[in-house]
Amino acid sequence: MPRKSFEDVLDYTEKSLKWIEAKGMEGDEQKSFIEEIRHNYGTHINPGFLEYRKAAGEDDMAMEWSANGDTFMDLQGREYIDCLGGFGVYNCGHRHPTIVKAVTDQISKQPLSSAELVDSNRALLARILADVSPGDLQYTFFTSSGTEAIESALKMSALATGRHFFIAFEGDFHGKTAGALSLTSKAHFRGPFLPLLQGTRHCKFGDLDMLTKMLEVMEFTGELPAAIVFETIQGEGGINIPPDDFIPGIRKLCDKYGIMMVADEVQSGMGRTGTLFAVDYYDVAPDIICCAKAIGGGVMPLSACICTEEAFKGMFPDPLLHSTTTGGSPTATAAGIAALNVILKEDLPGKAKRAGGIFMEGLEKIKAKYPKLMTDVRGRGLFLAMEFIDGDIGYEVVYEMFNRKVLVSGSLINAKTIRIEPPLMISDEHIERALQVIDESCGVVYEKHGW
Ligand SMILES: Cc1ncc(COP(=O)(O)O)c(C=O)c1O
Repeated sequence: MPRKSFEDVLDYTEKSLKWIEAKGMEGDEQKSFIEEIRHNYGTHINPGFLEYRKAAGEDDMAMEWSANGDTFMDLQGREYIDCLGGFGVYNCGHRHPTIVKAVTDQISKQPLSSAELVDSNRALLARILADVSPGDLQYTFFTSSGTEAIESALKMSALATGRHFFIAFEGDFHGKTAGALSLTSKAHFRGPFLPLLQGTRHCKFGDLDMLTKMLEVMEFTGELPAAIVFETIQGEGGINIPPDDFIPGIRKLCDKYGIMMVADEVQSGMGRTGTLFAVDYYDVAPDIICCAKAIGGGVMPLSACICTEEAFKGMFPDPLLHSTTTGGSPTATAAGIAALNVILKEDLPGKAKRAGGIFMEGLEKIKAKYPKLMTDVRGRGLFLAMEFIDGDIGYEVVYEMFNRKVLVSGSLINAKTIRIEPPLMISDEHIERALQVIDESCGVVYEKHGW
């Protein structure tokens, strides 16, 4: 594409700033803006994106524009119930006033830091995380995304143990940067980039016998891992809950072989499953917990790799051995502090547990009504999934739901499952409406296939 004159580009930035400033748009202005964005997606983002997105309904250019609590509004002025919650970002809902205030307070002083001087919000949040985490978790390394938190955990584990191999599980999703992708399990995402981190192995999720045997062999061959990395409940794998002895069993094996136990709570954490961390259900303390998504309060990108002293102390001699310039900025950590304030003050884990119970009861009834369509419903708290006979059928239901203004979506690793992950303070009225929409949408798909 020919390079444009800087005057032209300047004009375009002015126009874009006006669009950002706009509260809304009507008529021709709205139409031409939508066409502009469609063109830019095709020409500058990825032409496949608009085609590939499966969650959209009849209007593939529904464009999210504003949000509040458990709903969001598109540019066209239609309101949706958010039962996807940004794949686990919006535990505190959209634009929670406490979180927005903390962020705007910080922005009005200094949004990012020099990355050289001492930064107070980082220290305050690290202390809060140490206080709310199970066991002896004490030191936190802050980044911005989930995959970066996992990268940090891999490096901390290698430093702490002097080992370089890792174990993860079939069905796991840990991110897509090269280190985290080594642990992510699906061939579709890994294949084009292999070989990734050498010596990484995957075990059957929930199979403690297999894990025990793998470790016996790895000890024999002199290849014991630095870490066992697991999702306490697999999210992208389709909301898979392991047998009750699995997570405590990992703890015992890690103790036996001196391995770092790394809980990836990027999606399951921050109250979603009915406890602050999903591992709290098992009363187990990992050596490292990775958090992201909801820890930024749905307002800022933030992630955290929370470690015991044993797991972290390799970073003491040179704190810059692993670093990021903008991760854990004063604004992001202000959001994190406010998010924990909201989660504790409003008892969001308790709300998730209660609302999850209502949802599950409704979903069980719908499953019984459409046996040829839905094969399973499962989950804990508001970390829920419906499993369909195949992925295409599931997306037909999602399409109908979107047309009825309820957003849900599929899973990256298990095409058959559709997730329900709303803000934890979703109202009873919206749960009822969402269940009604699921029922109606299943009915439409049932009829369409002549069942
Ligand atoms: C369990 C888990 N770990 C890691 C990640 C990666 O997080 P991010 O997309 O913020 O890099 C995800 C994202 O869905 C996740 O669900």
